[in-house]
Amino acid sequence: MGNIPLFIPKNIDKYFYNRDKDIKKINFYLNGLHEDISQQLLITGYRGVGKTFLIHKIIKDIDSNFLITYIDISLIYSENDGTINSTVLLTGILSKINQTLEEKNNNKFAKITSSIRNLITNIKLKKYDFNEITTILDIPIPHYEDDYTKISKFVMELPQKIVDKTGEIDGFIIILDEIQMLKQMKNSESFFWLIRSHNQFQTNVSYILTGSTSKTSEIIEMINGETGAFGGRMIQINIDPFTKEETHNYFKDRMPEIQFTENGFDRFYECTRGIPAYINSFYNVLSSDVIYDDKQIKNTFNTSIDQILVMWIKIWGTLNQYEKKIIITILENEESTWNTLYTKTEFSTSTINKYLNSLQNKGIVSYKNKLYVLEDQMIKAWLEHEKETRGFYAE
Ligand SMILES: Nc1ncnc2c1ncn2[C@@H]1O[C@H](COP(=O)(O)OP(=O)(O)OP(=O)(O)O)[C@@H](O)[C@H]1O
Ligand SMILES: [Mg+2]
Repeated sequence: MGNIPLFIPKNIDKYFYNRDKDIKKINFYLNGLHEDISQQLLITGYRGVGKTFLIHKIIKDIDSNFLITYIDISLIYSENDGTINSTVLLTGILSKINQTLEEKNNNKFAKITSSIRNLITNIKLKKYDFNEITTILDIPIPHYEDDYTKISKFVMELPQKIVDKTGEIDGFIIILDEIQMLKQMKNSESFFWLIRSHNQFQTNVSYILTGSTSKTSEIIEMINGETGAFGGRMIQINIDPFTKEETHNYFKDRMPEIQFTENGFDRFYECTRGIPAYINSFYNVLSSDVIYDDKQIKNTFNTSIDQILVMWIKIWGTLNQYEKKIIITILENEESTWNTLYTKTEFSTSTINKYLNSLQNKGIVSYKNKLYVLEDQMIKAWLEHEKETRGFYAE
């Protein structure tokens, strides 16, 4: 049995496969920073397709003239006891920016980083009398408890100031991952406007936004829709599953011990649909002693479904009873119009709308041709398996 990690490993190059075109495209836009052209990127794609892994590969190989900060919003959320507000979010971003400066180990940053560290402590303690110092890099620092405007201005201006004040840095890249978590925040929309309003004057700061969300979700609309903060100006890059050929080459290069017959491989691809998260977890239950044909792939899938679809066990555990009921209702009905869902779930209009939105923001449900559908049929396979083996859907 194989042993490929199902999380982002430390040794990225050992496990990261291909994505050359996506990397080239993303770096093309980021390289504009050398010429004072900043582009903003919105990276979408199915759950488990490899957005986060790709981002980590980009970070690892980034040009040494760029500073790059990665922020996982779900982490800020969980470190703050499962709640989030603008001040917590901005402080989280600030502390990650500061970590980037510290890791650069450049003498020029030493004084700035220690001032920022003090500032963060004071914000957390709600102590805004910041010793007599009123600015860092000429940016005014907040002094009063309710001085949210100053905190936001400080955090938003800092990256461009760092580029301006230090000759050798050409650009600052800020990556926000798991942006769907921002929906937990009351004024999430104003946060995107905040980025946009500062960023439009910044020639050396690029933002990359990504997360586990459906392309049709409210949150994508809020960011880059017609009336959204970036109003279509963000460059949207969709990360596709591996093609059949890529999947084939991935096995040949990295897991050559696994043998398939032709229809065995076809079945394997049909099951995983080229989504690397499934390819890897499926690989982990395959054996080098077998030549897999269609039937054996099917059998292995059925007997190891819990391991192959482990991703869904985790996601399912984070959903509430309304969200679960909506998913099961979609699963049990051929054509899930809003009306079908409304009648079958017996939820109120506002409840059903609220949780349909949240499921779209989480990249689980999407809205196509006036029907609500599951983005990924694997959840269907997993739930049906649960029902078969336990007699009821997982709670
Ligand atoms: N290029 C790749 N090469 C090899 N394995 C990959 C690649 N991309 C993704 N994977 C595998 O898929 C798993 C899921 O990838 P990742 O966490 O990046 O997905 P994601 O698109 O960020 O998903 P989510 O929407 O749930 O956040 C990784 O842990 C890894 O096992
Ligand atoms: Mg991810």
